[in-house]
Amino acid sequence: MNEIVGYEIEGRVAVLTIDNPPVNALGHAVREGIVTRVEQAVADDGVDAIVLIGAGRTFPAGADIREFDQPAREPHLLVVVDRMDTIEKAVVAAIHGTALGGGLELALGCHFRVASPDARVGLPEVNLGIFPGAAGTQRLPRVAGLDNALEMIVSGKPVGAVTAHDYGIVDAIVEGDLRPGALAFAQKIIADGTPRRISSEPRDGIGAPEAHAETIDRYRDLANRRFRGQESPHQAIESVVDGLRMPYDEAVAADRVRFEACKTSSQSAALRYAFFAEREAAKIPDIGKDVAPRAVKSAGVIGAGTMGRGIAISLADSGLPVTVVETGQEALDAGMAELAKLYEAMVSRGRIDEATKAERLARITGAIDYGVLGEADLVIEAAFEDLDVKKDIFQTLDGVAKPGAVLATNTSYMDIDAIATATSRPRDVIGLHYFVPANVMRLLEVVRGDESAPDAIATGMALARRTNKVGVLAGVCHGFIANRSRLPLVREATFLIEEGASPAQVDKVLTDLGMPLGPLAVSDLSGLDVSWRMRQSLAADRDPEARYMHLADRMCELGRFGIKAGRGWYAYEEGGRHPQPDEEVEAIAAAVAGEQGIERREISDDEIRARCLYAAINEGAKILEEGVAARASDIDVMWLYGFGFPRWRGGIMFIADEIGLPEILSQLRAFEAVHGKLWNPSPLLERLAADGGSFTR
Ligand code: CAA
Repeated sequence: MNEIVGYEIEGRVAVLTIDNPPVNALGHAVREGIVTRVEQAVADDGVDAIVLIGAGRTFPAGADIREFDQPAREPHLLVVVDRMDTIEKAVVAAIHGTALGGGLELALGCHFRVASPDARVGLPEVNLGIFPGAAGTQRLPRVAGLDNALEMIVSGKPVGAVTAHDYGIVDAIVEGDLRPGALAFAQKIIADGTPRRISSEPRDGIGAPEAHAETIDRYRDLANRRFRGQESPHQAIESVVDGLRMPYDEAVAADRVRFEACKTSSQSAALRYAFFAEREAAKIPDIGKDVAPRAVKSAGVIGAGTMGRGIAISLADSGLPVTVVETGQEALDAGMAELAKLYEAMVSRGRIDEATKAERLARITGAIDYGVLGEADLVIEAAFEDLDVKKDIFQTLDGVAKPGAVLATNTSYMDIDAIATATSRPRDVIGLHYFVPANVMRLLEVVRGDESAPDAIATGMALARRTNKVGVLAGVCHGFIANRSRLPLVREATFLIEEGASPAQVDKVLTDLGMPLGPLAVSDLSGLDVSWRMRQSLAADRDPEARYMHLADRMCELGRFGIKAGRGWYAYEEGGRHPQPDEEVEAIAAAVAGEQGIERREISDDEIRARCLYAAINEGAKILEEGVAARASDIDVMWLYGFGFPRWRGGIMFIADEIGLPEILSQLRAFEAVHGKLWNPSPLLERLAADGGSFTR
């Protein structure tokens, strides 16, 4: 009768099995199936209790996110959940895998819940720009208490079965097979005549909002800190607060209006886009699932500098034994001592305990002899950014690495193909571009050279998953995808200062967009000399007709390297990290502008926003048309995870589509007329704008 929800009877218990791979999402057909089967069980005289369980890997992991853009179809999930309240037979949810969002709401509608020990339950809706609108915000506080419920709803983070049991969300944990355990639980309920628990009923001890003002304010603060600029956690809190002051039915009715507003908001569209973009990035168009990654059981890292140490930690934390190789004993000892300090800091911040630190540190050994790398399945070079140095290293590696080892470089902009020519095995050479600090930042840019073998690339992507990073593929070009698409934003930021804006004004416009730090504060943090050296290395190829970053050079010539020098785009107190406006910067900018014949003027925030953002979008379009990025959404995923771009804005390419490509194009042309050839519009953007096309839709 219904294919998607199975119906079997065992000893007066109807077992309803939801079978909608891969995650039993509660799409229209599933909701319909559940209603049909529940009514069948209600009408069945041979049934005294009902068990709802998921086939495959999980209890429903939520609503079907792909249906959000379509008109809602009946039966709505709320109706399915509310129906449970009026069923006289006990309904038991049997949870394994991840009962998330609508999945947990469905379970909360059931009268009892049992779970496998490794199950997780949560309400991650805020991450999609919505809130638990199928009564999760009303039922969870009644079941788990206000504080626990707000923690789960506002953070969006799931909890494990044991915590769920402590919170009262789960009535029993079933060791062993879930289905027979759930059946036994249901049979005991029948035998004991245990009264049904209806989670929409008022709960003792939960009073009016005034009685919980401190708790509610704490979560409002949390929402502001953790989700700066994002609306959904606040809507979730308001919904919970409504539940404290209104009867269930009224609060649920108020939720309907609020939910529709959230669901149709641009923030929710961006967050849903980000969800799928991230999963899409894991798929490489011409490398299918049949290409197995190479086995990696041990790794080597060349260089114990900042990058090398972060990479070694990231590898060791995932359980891999790592050998770090340096050029001399002194450099090695210094690097290993710094590495130990990083672990120390994790302990003192409460991130890990002493035992974990000892275990992870023990996985990392140091050496000054490349010979030890002969055992490693993967070697990541993190040496100085100098092509000759890197070629030497790869030549040496070629002589010692075992056949089939993946040889990776962490270069942030150099030609992987040139590095690969230093070896006799270019198929094994790939780029693994980490972001600072490498053990913290989630982005891993996996760079594919002309000769890189598919399984070497698959190994890089698998390493990203293993080390809890988001791997995104890039082709070879100067700066690859992330840094190359961001560079024009930084370039425009410095040009705008030449033209009359202050660093604080430029940074504020970008932090108002939701970025964690402005580009000039970031330059001060990472050091202005880094890009100065890069510009010097490219000097021979520089287009003399294109505008150049004279001011950024001048800052470096004056020793204004940023925080480490106590001054950069801002001034810093001795040893301090807090940026203070510095009048000297204005004087330097005015002097450079004078030399370059640039007239200084008042600059609007709108111009700053458009110049910074559109320059990056135009570069993104070029990256896309050159095939360096497989898809526009890959560029966005890089911005989300590499630069902390606000997820609720989707990313630069998503924003471009939202604004409309014809509008972007006309602005690019206007800027080109004033500022010259750096603003040449990308031909792809021109084509899409003319054809009514888009990057991401
Ligand atoms: N709707 C539609 N598709 C979904 C989905 C969902 N809720 N959850 C996962 N998928 C899809 C993924 O897109 C992916 O598809 P492809 O294989 O085609 O890429 C596939 O299922 C497997 O997902 P993952 O690759 O993410 O698998 P995983 O094992 O790493 O993670 C998971 C599984 C923890 C369930 C993770 O997918 C996840 O967090 N999903 C989202 C959960 C969620 O946010 N639920 C709340 C939805 S909103 C809601 O429920 C409110 C409401 O009632 C209106």
